[in-house]
Amino acid sequence: MIVVVLPGDCIGPEITAEATRVLLALVPGLELDERPFGAAAIRAGGNPLPAATLEACRGADAVLKGPIGDPALDAAGVRPEQGLLRLRSALDVYANLRPARRGEIDLLIVRELVGGLYFGAKGVRADGTAFDTCEYHPAQVERIARRAFELARRRRGRVTSVDKANVLETSRLWRRVVGEVAAGYPDIALDHMLVDNCAMQLVQAPARFDVILTENMFGDILSDEASAVTGGLGLAGSASLGDAGPGLFEPVHGSAPDIAGRGIANPAGMLRSAALLLEHGLGLGEQARRLDSALDRALAAAPPVDQGGSATTREVGDAVLAAL
Ligand code: NAD
Ligand code: IPM
Ligand code: MN
Repeated sequence: MIVVVLPGDCIGPEITAEATRVLLALVPGLELDERPFGAAAIRAGGNPLPAATLEACRGADAVLKGPIGDPALDAAGVRPEQGLLRLRSALDVYANLRPARRGEIDLLIVRELVGGLYFGAKGVRADGTAFDTCEYHPAQVERIARRAFELARRRRGRVTSVDKANVLETSRLWRRVVGEVAAGYPDIALDHMLVDNCAMQLVQAPARFDVILTENMFGDILSDEASAVTGGLGLAGSASLGDAGPGLFEPVHGSAPDIAGRGIANPAGMLRSAALLLEHGLGLGEQARRLDSALDRALAAAPPVDQGGSATTREVGDAVLAAL
């Protein structure tokens, strides 16, 4: 089994080092193939997603990715983020699963990942007007809706579809197609919610949600929010899956330039992503559960700085290995 590893930028390499250590302990003989991506790849050759990196990803069983993004490149013509969007699109990993759990809260955001505002026509006109276009084809909505209903079947059987159908044409399409897909899942309870209300309910009554199904940009914003109400952005992992081919596994958070280089980043979001990789990417559900449970114990024994403790990135990794 081959996992391509893209360490990422700023805190990326720091937290990736803990994830690879733990993966090798859990799966002896696992082949890790590290490749340039993001800011490092831009500096080396001007391209955040070199062709050889993409080919390696395509040929792997799964891709483990650290966060990318580098403030030093904000003004440059090419950004690491462009490489990430190209990678998601090239692998067609349209279903981004972002779980958030704590106490009675247990929700799963199912975010459409390769359409919408991120991928529509964009530009700046001669008069200075900037534009980004939001487009969805019914087939794009249908496949992500199916994925959400299938996932809800293995959970508490509820889907909340989140849109802005009172304003946006794409959201009216979204609502109609999700309703049609729902007809094939009579065992699942579907409700529709406007995104501004959802943002409020996530803070006020997060335990009411099971599966939240939403489009790309709304899912981006709501998943940071859901992480905050379940303990913090440093804890959240994600899986991005297509219909075939390797999945992409990465934390919800970014490259945290404000704390990079100090060895204090929380590796938990990366380790949860590694657990999702074991389960969804390699079919190793038992090892995934062992990792999740070791991480629960490690965070209790050695809480990192963002959790109010003082454990370093490395010490959290050590605590996970000790728990394993
Ligand atoms: P961010 O998620 O990097 O950081 C937001 C805040 O959360 C910061 O205060 C940071 O220190 C803290 N934080 C995040 N992860 C943490 C961790 N593991 N441990 C402890 N604290 C943590 O968001 P930002 O600052 O808005 O973005 C920085 C860069 O990251 C940008 O270039 C952005 O594009 C990029 N980004 C990349 C990804 C990705 O690769 N998937 C995701 C989000 C943002
Ligand atoms: C995320 C990030 C990315 C997104 C950026 C870096 C392109 O915020 O994975 O949540 O918006 O999808
Ligand atoms: Mn985000």
